[in-house]
This record gives sequence, structure tokens and C-alpha cells, in this order.
Amino acid sequence: MNLLVTAGATREPIDPVRYLTNRSSGKMGYAIASAGAQLGHRVTLISGPTSLDIPSHVDFIPVETAQEMLEAVKLKIGGKDAAIFSAAVADYRPASVSDSKIKKTADALTLELVQNPDILGSARHQFKYDGILVGFAAETENLETNAREKLRQKECDLVVANDISKKGIGFDSDHNEVLLVYPEHTRPIPIDSKERLAHTLLQAIHELKVVGS
Ligand code: CTP
Repeated sequence: MNLLVTAGATREPIDPVRYLTNRSSGKMGYAIASAGAQLGHRVTLISGPTSLDIPSHVDFIPVETAQEMLEAVKLKIGGKDAAIFSAAVADYRPASVSDSKIKKTADALTLELVQNPDILGSARHQFKYDGILVGFAAETENLETNAREKLRQKECDLVVANDISKKGIGFDSDHNEVLLVYPEHTRPIPIDSKERLAHTLLQAIHELKVVGS
């Protein structure tokens, strides 16, 4: 298969030395890209900055901001059998970026934020993508309901839902425990290493491809 994977957190600049980001490590997305390449798939990995080694045998595209990630996805998504959106994209960015370092002058500082584009949410209509679309849902409450809502809204075939309020799984951990949320059913996957979960997910995507073809 031809796979596209987004991974890592985006970084939204405030001034030349500061930025907004989140706690995503990129480990899940890199594990998926790496497992895909090991299985002989052609993998394009579009990633925000991480401290991870670039997996071997993948087409690696580094980006920083959500807008850069959007442009890279737009360029690369055509013709992919499956697109897997595991990146933790910043929902908001500073409304303006200061060219010079913001100095400590006032007692309080208000930062105005504007919404970033929804990259996964642009796949079906804006990018006209008709392959297998896999989203992730990072939730602290109502895991399955919220994931199912994202599945419907963003027109995904599958959403991988994880509860980021649980200690020892998800963000920055080597393990995860997820629900695979499909339009008609939900499959719970017990806690496992991100490497083994990546293989489970690729198997699930393969099954979707067989059913769809
Ligand atoms: N996503 C994206 N672009 C964004 C925000 C999210 O592509 N600007 C993708 C993520 O990669 C993930 C899915 O959408 O696959 C859901 O991300 P999540 O942060 O859980 O949800 P949001 O859509 O941002 O909604 P909310 O933050 O309100 O839960």
C-alpha cells in the first residue's frame, strides 16, 4: 500500500524565540510509519518537530506549523491507499508573529489566537481524497462518543481513540490503549506497546482495504 502518516506536534511561533505546542511525542505516528516500511509499504511521513530518529525507508517531510503540515498533506495525499492522521495539530496559532523578541515591559500580556485549518477535516472535500481515512481522537472524557462524532464530521473510515487522562498511556508514553471506532461498531484494543499497536492498526487498515476493493 501507499501510506501517508502525519505525526508529532505542530509548533506555532509567537516571536523568534517562543512558540506554542503540545505534549505529543510523535511516537505513535513514527511507530506506524516504521511498521509500514518494515511491511514493505511505501510510506510518506509528514512530521512536526520531535526528538525521535527518522524511521528508515520512509519519505520524510519535516514541517513546523499546522499551515505547513496542511500544505504538505495537500501535496502528497493524492493516490495514497490510506492516510493516517496521528499528528497533534495545534488548534490555534498566534494571530500575528512578532519579528523581534517580545520584551518584558507590561505586567500582563494578552496573546490573540486564531484557529488553524483542520487538516484531517479538509481531506474529503478540499483535497478530494477517496482512500482509507484514519483519524485519531485524543480525549479526556466521553471517549467513544467524541471519537464517533469526529469519525462522522471528518468522514473517516476509522478513528483511533485514546483517553489522554489515563496515566501511563498515550501522550509521551511508550504504550497506548485505544478504541478502534468504525461507523458501525467499536473494537477495544487492550494496552500494548506503540510498536505492536502500529501493526494492529495496519492490519485493521489492510482489512478495510480488502473489504473496500
Ligand atoms: N487534526 C488535524 N488538524 C487539526 C486538528 C486535528 O488534522 N487542525 C486531526 C488530528 O491529527 C486527529 C484528529 O484531527 O487525527 C482529531 O484531533 P483532536 O485534536 O482529537 O480533535 P480536534 O478535531 O482538534 O477537536 P477537539 O480539539 O475539539 O477535540
